[in-house]
Amino acid sequence: MKILVLNGSPKKKSDTFRLTEAFLKGLNRKGEHEINIVHVREKQIAPCKGCFGCWQKMDGHCVIRDDQNAILDLYRDADVIIWSFPLYCYAMPSQLKAVLDRTIPLVKMAMRMEEDGTVRHEDLADFSRIHTLVICGCGFPNWDGNFDGLKKTCEVCFCGPDMVCVPETPLLNVPEAAIVADPLLQKFESAGEEYAAALTLSPETVAALETPMIPKEEYIRQVNAGAGK
Ligand SMILES: Cc1cc2nc3c(=O)[nH]c(=O)nc-3n(C[C@H](O)[C@H](O)[C@H](O)COP(=O)(O)O)c2cc1C
Repeated sequence: MKILVLNGSPKKKSDTFRLTEAFLKGLNRKGEHEINIVHVREKQIAPCKGCFGCWQKMDGHCVIRDDQNAILDLYRDADVIIWSFPLYCYAMPSQLKAVLDRTIPLVKMAMRMEEDGTVRHEDLADFSRIHTLVICGCGFPNWDGNFDGLKKTCEVCFCGPDMVCVPETPLLNVPEAAIVADPLLQKFESAGEEYAAALTLSPETVAALETPMIPKEEYIRQVNAGAGK
Protein backbone atom coordinates (compact mmCIF):
# COMPACT_ATOMS: atom_id res chain seq x y z
CA MET A 1 0.00 0.00 0.00
CA LYS A 2 1.03 3.57 -0.57
CA ILE A 3 0.62 5.60 2.58
CA LEU A 4 0.81 9.39 2.60
CA VAL A 5 1.33 11.02 5.98
CA LEU A 6 0.71 14.75 6.25
CA ASN A 7 2.36 16.01 9.43
CA GLY A 8 0.75 19.38 10.03
CA SER A 9 2.41 20.36 13.28
CA PRO A 10 4.47 23.51 12.89
CA LYS A 11 6.83 22.12 15.57
CA LYS A 12 9.91 20.09 14.76
CA LYS A 13 9.23 17.88 17.81
CA SER A 14 5.51 17.29 17.51
CA ASP A 15 3.82 15.43 20.36
CA THR A 16 1.08 14.32 17.99
CA PHE A 17 3.60 13.05 15.48
CA ARG A 18 5.18 10.86 18.16
CA LEU A 19 1.84 9.07 18.37
CA THR A 20 1.68 8.87 14.58
CA GLU A 21 5.20 7.44 14.38
CA ALA A 22 4.24 4.72 16.88
CA PHE A 23 1.16 4.00 14.77
CA LEU A 24 3.27 3.76 11.61
CA LYS A 25 5.65 1.36 13.35
CA GLY A 26 2.76 -1.03 13.92
CA LEU A 27 1.24 -0.36 10.52
CA ASN A 28 4.44 -1.16 8.67
CA ARG A 29 5.63 -3.94 10.97
CA LYS A 30 6.50 -6.13 8.00
CA GLY A 31 8.08 -3.25 6.05
CA GLU A 32 5.86 -3.93 3.08
CA HIS A 33 4.28 -0.52 2.64
CA GLU A 34 5.56 2.58 0.89
CA ILE A 35 5.30 5.46 3.34
CA ASN A 36 5.67 9.06 2.21
CA ILE A 37 5.86 11.52 5.09
CA VAL A 38 5.34 15.19 4.25
CA HIS A 39 6.34 17.58 7.03
CA VAL A 40 4.17 20.47 5.97
CA ARG A 41 6.23 22.98 7.98
CA GLU A 42 9.17 22.33 5.61
CA LYS A 43 7.11 23.05 2.50
CA GLN A 44 6.20 26.21 0.69
CA ILE A 45 2.41 26.16 0.56
CA ALA A 46 0.76 29.48 -0.22
CA PRO A 47 -2.87 30.01 0.78
CA CYS A 48 -5.46 29.27 -1.90
CA LYS A 49 -6.17 32.48 -3.81
CA GLY A 50 -9.66 31.42 -4.87
CA CYS A 51 -9.06 31.93 -8.59
CA PHE A 52 -10.53 28.53 -9.61
CA GLY A 53 -7.77 28.34 -12.23
CA CYS A 54 -7.59 24.64 -11.38
CA TRP A 55 -11.17 24.20 -12.64
CA GLN A 56 -10.21 25.72 -15.96
CA LYS A 57 -7.15 23.51 -16.38
CA MET A 58 -8.77 20.39 -14.84
CA ASP A 59 -5.47 18.51 -14.72
CA GLY A 60 -5.49 17.88 -10.98
CA HIS A 61 -2.97 20.60 -10.25
CA CYS A 62 -3.00 24.07 -8.77
CA VAL A 63 -1.99 27.12 -10.81
CA ILE A 64 0.25 28.32 -7.95
CA ARG A 65 3.74 26.95 -8.50
CA ASP A 66 4.90 25.78 -5.09
CA ASP A 67 5.15 22.49 -3.19
CA GLN A 68 1.41 21.72 -3.23
CA ASN A 69 1.38 20.07 -6.65
CA ALA A 70 3.85 17.40 -5.50
CA ILE A 71 1.52 16.75 -2.52
CA LEU A 72 -1.45 16.45 -4.89
CA ASP A 73 0.46 13.85 -6.91
CA LEU A 74 1.12 11.82 -3.76
CA TYR A 75 -2.50 12.31 -2.68
CA ARG A 76 -3.94 10.92 -5.91
CA ASP A 77 -1.62 7.96 -5.75
CA ALA A 78 -2.20 7.03 -2.10
CA ASP A 79 -4.21 4.12 -0.74
CA VAL A 80 -4.15 5.57 2.77
CA ILE A 81 -3.79 9.20 3.84
CA ILE A 82 -2.99 10.00 7.46
CA TRP A 83 -3.52 13.58 8.60
CA SER A 84 -1.48 14.11 11.79
CA PHE A 85 -1.72 17.47 13.52
CA PRO A 86 -2.41 19.31 16.77
CA LEU A 87 -5.74 20.99 17.40
CA TYR A 88 -5.39 24.74 16.90
CA CYS A 89 -8.39 26.87 17.89
CA TYR A 90 -10.70 23.86 17.50
CA ALA A 91 -9.45 23.25 13.96
CA MET A 92 -6.31 22.28 12.05
CA PRO A 93 -3.18 24.47 11.98
CA SER A 94 -3.25 27.07 9.21
CA GLN A 95 -0.36 25.60 7.18
CA LEU A 96 -2.21 22.29 6.96
CA LYS A 97 -5.51 24.03 6.26
CA ALA A 98 -3.81 25.59 3.22
CA VAL A 99 -2.93 22.07 2.05
CA LEU A 100 -6.56 21.00 2.54
CA ASP A 101 -7.95 24.09 0.77
CA ARG A 102 -5.66 23.43 -2.13
CA THR A 103 -6.97 19.90 -2.71
CA ILE A 104 -9.75 21.66 -4.67
CA PRO A 105 -7.95 20.73 -7.94
CA LEU A 106 -8.91 17.12 -7.15
CA VAL A 107 -12.63 17.85 -7.49
CA LYS A 108 -14.72 19.27 -10.31
CA MET A 109 -16.98 22.29 -10.30
CA ALA A 110 -19.95 19.93 -10.88
CA MET A 111 -21.92 19.10 -7.74
CA ARG A 112 -24.12 16.26 -6.62
CA MET A 113 -26.56 15.83 -3.76
CA GLU A 114 -26.28 12.66 -1.72
CA GLU A 115 -29.20 10.77 -0.25
CA ASP A 116 -28.68 12.35 3.17
CA GLY A 117 -28.79 15.84 1.60
CA THR A 118 -25.02 16.44 1.72
CA VAL A 119 -23.85 18.39 -1.33
CA ARG A 120 -20.43 17.53 -2.75
CA HIS A 121 -18.32 18.32 -5.75
CA GLU A 122 -17.71 15.40 -8.08
CA ASP A 123 -14.24 13.89 -7.73
CA LEU A 124 -11.86 14.36 -10.64
CA ALA A 125 -11.12 10.63 -10.46
CA ASP A 126 -12.39 7.83 -8.23
CA PHE A 127 -10.87 8.61 -4.86
CA SER A 128 -13.31 6.40 -2.96
CA ARG A 129 -10.55 3.79 -2.67
CA ILE A 130 -8.50 6.15 -0.45
CA HIS A 131 -8.76 5.42 3.28
CA THR A 132 -8.35 8.47 5.48
CA LEU A 133 -7.24 8.51 9.09
CA VAL A 134 -7.01 11.64 11.22
CA ILE A 135 -4.76 11.69 14.30
CA CYS A 136 -5.16 14.90 16.27
CA GLY A 137 -3.53 15.82 19.57
CA CYS A 138 -4.50 18.71 21.79
CA GLY A 139 -3.48 20.63 24.86
CA PHE A 140 -6.72 20.56 26.82
CA PRO A 141 -7.87 17.66 28.92
CA ASN A 142 -10.89 15.77 27.69
CA TRP A 143 -13.99 17.98 27.49
CA ASP A 144 -17.12 17.82 25.40
CA GLY A 145 -16.93 20.11 22.43
CA ASN A 146 -13.16 20.56 22.06
CA PHE A 147 -13.06 18.47 18.88
CA ASP A 148 -16.63 19.07 17.61
CA GLY A 149 -15.74 21.63 14.91
CA LEU A 150 -12.81 19.59 13.65
CA LYS A 151 -14.87 16.40 13.58
CA LYS A 152 -17.53 18.05 11.42
CA THR A 153 -14.90 19.45 9.03
CA CYS A 154 -13.20 16.07 8.67
CA GLU A 155 -16.49 14.20 8.33
CA VAL A 156 -17.52 16.24 5.30
CA CYS A 157 -14.08 16.77 3.74
CA PHE A 158 -12.91 13.17 4.07
CA CYS A 159 -16.31 11.42 3.84
CA GLY A 160 -16.33 9.97 7.35
CA PRO A 161 -12.68 9.17 8.07
CA ASP A 162 -11.36 7.17 11.00
CA MET A 163 -10.51 9.80 13.62
CA VAL A 164 -8.47 9.63 16.80
CA CYS A 165 -8.61 12.74 18.98
CA VAL A 166 -6.14 12.59 21.83
CA PRO A 167 -6.32 14.91 24.87
CA GLU A 168 -3.36 15.99 27.04
CA THR A 169 -0.73 15.36 24.33
CA PRO A 170 1.82 17.80 25.85
CA LEU A 171 2.39 15.05 28.44
CA LEU A 172 4.29 13.20 25.72
CA ASN A 173 6.93 15.87 26.06
CA VAL A 174 7.30 15.61 29.84
CA PRO A 175 9.96 13.04 30.87
CA GLU A 176 8.27 12.45 34.25
CA ALA A 177 5.05 11.52 32.43
CA ALA A 178 6.67 8.62 30.54
CA ILE A 179 4.93 6.23 32.91
CA VAL A 180 1.58 7.21 31.38
CA ALA A 181 2.80 8.25 27.91
CA ASP A 182 4.68 5.05 27.05
CA PRO A 183 1.61 2.82 27.42
CA LEU A 184 -0.29 5.19 25.10
CA LEU A 185 2.50 4.98 22.51
CA GLN A 186 2.30 1.20 22.80
CA LYS A 187 -1.46 1.34 22.18
CA PHE A 188 -0.85 3.42 19.06
CA GLU A 189 1.63 0.85 17.80
CA SER A 190 -0.91 -1.95 18.29
CA ALA A 191 -3.58 0.19 16.63
CA GLY A 192 -1.26 0.53 13.61
CA GLU A 193 -1.19 -3.26 13.33
CA GLU A 194 -4.98 -3.40 13.55
CA TYR A 195 -5.26 -0.74 10.85
CA ALA A 196 -2.87 -2.61 8.52
CA ALA A 197 -5.14 -5.65 8.73
CA ALA A 198 -8.56 -3.98 8.61
CA LEU A 199 -7.93 -0.51 7.11
CA THR A 200 -10.12 0.84 9.88
CA LEU A 201 -10.09 1.01 13.68
CA SER A 202 -12.72 -0.50 15.92
CA PRO A 203 -14.69 1.86 18.18
CA GLU A 204 -13.07 0.10 21.15
CA THR A 205 -9.59 0.85 19.84
CA VAL A 206 -10.45 4.49 19.16
CA ALA A 207 -11.88 4.79 22.69
CA ALA A 208 -8.69 3.29 24.15
CA LEU A 209 -6.48 5.71 22.18
CA GLU A 210 -8.59 8.68 23.26
CA THR A 211 -8.63 7.76 26.94
CA PRO A 212 -6.91 10.54 28.91
CA MET A 213 -3.49 9.61 30.28
CA ILE A 214 -4.32 11.18 33.63
CA PRO A 215 -7.59 12.45 35.15
CA LYS A 216 -8.63 15.87 33.95
CA GLU A 217 -8.45 17.50 37.40
CA GLU A 218 -4.89 16.24 37.88
CA TYR A 219 -3.88 17.45 34.40
CA ILE A 220 -5.28 20.93 35.05
CA ARG A 221 -3.52 21.01 38.43
CA GLN A 222 -0.19 20.09 36.83
CA VAL A 223 -0.55 22.57 33.96
CA ASN A 224 -1.41 25.34 36.41
CA ALA A 225 1.52 24.40 38.65
CA GLY A 226 3.80 24.67 35.59
CA ALA A 227 2.27 28.04 34.76
CA GLY A 228 3.10 29.27 38.27
CA LYS A 229 -0.54 29.30 39.45
C1 LIG B 1 -2.30 28.53 18.31
C2 LIG B 1 -2.66 27.35 19.17
C3 LIG B 1 -4.00 27.01 19.30
C4 LIG B 1 -4.35 25.90 20.08
N1 LIG B 1 -5.67 25.58 20.20
C5 LIG B 1 -6.03 24.51 20.96
C6 LIG B 1 -7.40 24.14 21.09
O1 LIG B 1 -8.30 24.71 20.49
N2 LIG B 1 -7.70 23.10 21.88
C7 LIG B 1 -6.74 22.39 22.55
O2 LIG B 1 -7.08 21.45 23.28
N3 LIG B 1 -5.43 22.70 22.42
C8 LIG B 1 -5.06 23.74 21.64
N4 LIG B 1 -3.72 24.05 21.49
C9 LIG B 1 -2.69 23.20 22.12
C10 LIG B 1 -2.05 22.19 21.14
O3 LIG B 1 -3.03 21.42 20.48
C11 LIG B 1 -1.12 21.27 21.94
O4 LIG B 1 -0.08 22.02 22.50
C12 LIG B 1 -0.57 20.09 21.17
O5 LIG B 1 -0.09 19.15 22.11
C13 LIG B 1 0.58 20.45 20.29
O6 LIG B 1 0.85 19.32 19.51
P1 LIG B 1 2.14 19.15 18.62
O7 LIG B 1 3.32 19.03 19.56
O8 LIG B 1 1.87 17.91 17.88
O9 LIG B 1 2.28 20.33 17.70
C14 LIG B 1 -3.34 25.14 20.73
C15 LIG B 1 -1.99 25.51 20.57
C16 LIG B 1 -1.66 26.59 19.80
C17 LIG B 1 -0.18 26.94 19.64
